[in-house]
Amino acid sequence: MVNKSPLRIGMIGTGFMARAHTNAYKRVGDFFPELIHRPVLQAVCSRTPRKAKAFAEQWGYQDHTTDWKELIKRTDIDAIDICAPNDAHAEIAIAAAKAGKMVLCEKPLARTVAEAQPMVEAVEKYGVKNTVWYNYRRVPAVTLAKQIIDSGKLGKIFHYRTNFLQDWTINPDLPQGGEALWRLDINTAGSGVTGDLLAHCIDTAMWLNGGIIDVSAMTETFIKERKHQLTGKVEKVGIDDACIFHGHFQNGSLGLFEATRYARGQKALYTFEINGEHASISWDLHDQNRLGYFDHNDESIVRGWRSIHVSDSDQPYIKRWWIPGVCIGYEHTFVHHVADFLQSLESGENCSPTFREALETQKVCEAVLESAATRSWKDTGVVWKG
Ligand SMILES: NC(=O)c1ccc[n+]([C@@H]2O[C@H](COP(=O)([O-])OP(=O)(O)OC[C@H]3O[C@@H](n4cnc5c(N)ncnc54)[C@H](O)[C@@H]3O)[C@@H](O)[C@H]2O)c1
Repeated sequence: MVNKSPLRIGMIGTGFMARAHTNAYKRVGDFFPELIHRPVLQAVCSRTPRKAKAFAEQWGYQDHTTDWKELIKRTDIDAIDICAPNDAHAEIAIAAAKAGKMVLCEKPLARTVAEAQPMVEAVEKYGVKNTVWYNYRRVPAVTLAKQIIDSGKLGKIFHYRTNFLQDWTINPDLPQGGEALWRLDINTAGSGVTGDLLAHCIDTAMWLNGGIIDVSAMTETFIKERKHQLTGKVEKVGIDDACIFHGHFQNGSLGLFEATRYARGQKALYTFEINGEHASISWDLHDQNRLGYFDHNDESIVRGWRSIHVSDSDQPYIKRWWIPGVCIGYEHTFVHHVADFLQSLESGENCSPTFREALETQKVCEAVLESAATRSWKDTGVVWKG
């Protein structure tokens, strides 16, 4: 690798996100050739030796281990990427920061605010680069939405409406906990759809529309007991299967949020619509390269919702890829995130969202769960500078 500075990655986890991130590390240099830093797949960690070895061989990691602490101790690793379930994030991130490693952590930052706070303190105290993989910010159409909003085209914003709908836990015989089903175990996940799905909606919402200051929520656990995959016993289900909340943004607009894993027919329907004084914007993950845009300033006889195909070279990230008009997909959001992270190493800027920004999303999640539990409005305590 000529004139390139290696960024040696220690990957923790070998599941869904480990694959998505590893793909991004492999692709980024080809599509962002000017970047000085190049990821090197140094070592991967999984708790089972067979999986660690198989992942290393398939994806091209030079080494593998079953102990993340060993990975953190190594002097030939620059950055730790946390793709393990939520209960592992805090301990790994704090240890990695103490060892002077950069930390890229999957979302949600942690299970609770109390767990997330020391993570923020650690990365700031030890001065290590950090970012949290709220990848939907880097869908080109969503980045374009941010540019349009920041340009003032919407005027005063009145409404932010969003949902994230799935249907994969309707079967009451589905166990909770353990491999692939840790999201159903409160001890591992921290919460259900609130931390898993709404955290994405909240991150995007605050990035686009500013801080959420208070919330009123309801949650439901439709299946009250499930067999635990690890103990074999029927145990109480502690996660929220569905969550709906509303709240105020700092800018005076009203937010309406819904997430569920019980919307039969929906696999990952993430949508948002933002209504301003002059214009509105809408987006749908199932049609992620399109941005809906309505401009009231258009001549009335042709006024209507435009469906902007975000695939032209002057739109965010697009010129990095193919010819105008052809599409990119989900995996590209992670490549964009890695590219922005590498760029931040050159510029000295933060790669957003940082741990500190992700803590604000965690605060909203926690206020939502508290509101639902107490059937009352909660202030989030969010400090949003973004
Ligand atoms: N950004 C996104 O859109 C997005 C999407 C999915 C998941 N996530 C987040 O990514 C994280 C991982 O989720 P996933 O879907 O990849 O889960 P997964 O179940 O597919 O993979 C988790 C991996 O972590 C490993 N693991 C568990 N405990 C470990 C430990 N102590 N040490 C080493 N490895 C360990 C498991 O063996 C597995 O390989 C979660 O925090 C999740 O919320 C984010």
